[in-house]
Amino acid sequence: MRSGRCNLYRRLIRPLLFRLDPETAHRLTLAMLGALPARLAPEDPPELAITVWGQVFSNPLGLAAGVDKDARAVAGWQALGFGFAEVGTVTPRPQPGNPRPRLWRLPQERALINRMGFPSAGMEAVARSLERIRPRAAGIRLGVNIGPNRDTPVERVPEDYQRLLARLAPMADFIVVNLSSPNTPGLRDWQGPERIRTLGTALTDAQAGLMRRPPVLVKLAPDLEDALLADLCAAISDSGFGGMVAVNTTVSRAGLTAGSYPEGGLSGPPLRTRAREMVARLYRLSGGKLAIIGVGGVASAEDAYALIRAGASLVELYTALVYDGPAAVRMIKSGLGELLHRDGWRSIGEAVGSGSSEQS
Ligand SMILES: Cc1cc2nc3c(=O)[nH]c(=O)nc-3n(C[C@H](O)[C@H](O)[C@H](O)COP(=O)(O)O)c2cc1C
Repeated sequence: MRSGRCNLYRRLIRPLLFRLDPETAHRLTLAMLGALPARLAPEDPPELAITVWGQVFSNPLGLAAGVDKDARAVAGWQALGFGFAEVGTVTPRPQPGNPRPRLWRLPQERALINRMGFPSAGMEAVARSLERIRPRAAGIRLGVNIGPNRDTPVERVPEDYQRLLARLAPMADFIVVNLSSPNTPGLRDWQGPERIRTLGTALTDAQAGLMRRPPVLVKLAPDLEDALLADLCAAISDSGFGGMVAVNTTVSRAGLTAGSYPEGGLSGPPLRTRAREMVARLYRLSGGKLAIIGVGGVASAEDAYALIRAGASLVELYTALVYDGPAAVRMIKSGLGELLHRDGWRSIGEAVGSGSSEQS
């Protein structure tokens, strides 16, 4: 199911981009995408539409966090055919992130390793950018992923999230609280039931003062032990969160050929199995009541469909965009339509969770 344009990317554009260091290639691509007119993609067929949190998404495929950290190319993501884009991670104050190099390609595995450490223009700049560009890209749903500054003391992390929510909620269809980046020291310790409840209370307080209250989701790491998931899921559900994003990058190197790898989060196909497994577990534990965004190693329609059948209402990708280019979006959407048809579903919503008991 490879299209001509996908080949153009892989034969011509990718070799040029891969001659550059990964971050320069990334910046160049973002600048080009930012200049695209939003109305380039054809309308999605109705069977790909799905309603989540009472909002209609024209298709379930979204851009994962980390690609467009400062919301520079929202119209471009709509032009490529994404149903939604999750921008960020955005921090309250601007910060440079980790020193370079901090992003590596693993071409053999079609994977990436990164330890970006939340480089961010800060919430003021991102809010202003969103206010300016949002009207040009009205057809795409927008998630905003938020995280604390690196130098915020642990007891003040909830305040960072409160300020981010208050500033960015007016422009977001949903907010994602990132608790799972391996590159901000101490952040992943927030993935415990007690701390989740503390955060939930802080965010509910912050939301009380807002005119617009988008659902708030929690983004989780694939490295969490299965035994913890039941308590975690209960805390997320009890604390007013609207869903979960599973999964972030992994610190594990299982599945890679022996060798030495840089420190950081691994993404792409090595994450695929764990992402499916975690989505299925979270879907079962939450009784299908919390919406799940599935992410990790999606590179084909079959991968996206497997996450949907495991229990994801929406699916995201990052690494496949680097290896397959923008045509991956069109290819995955058309393949998803065919898979729905094959299995006799009339819409994506009917397929969500239909295979959740098949995963261990
Ligand atoms: C270079 C890079 C930067 C990322 N930055 C973020 C980030 O800022 N916030 C976040 O929540 N996830 C971030 N991620 C994780 C992705 O959103 C996604 O969860 C992960 O890469 C798995 O999806 P994939 O296999 O399709 O890439 C980043 C991933 C990569 C490769």
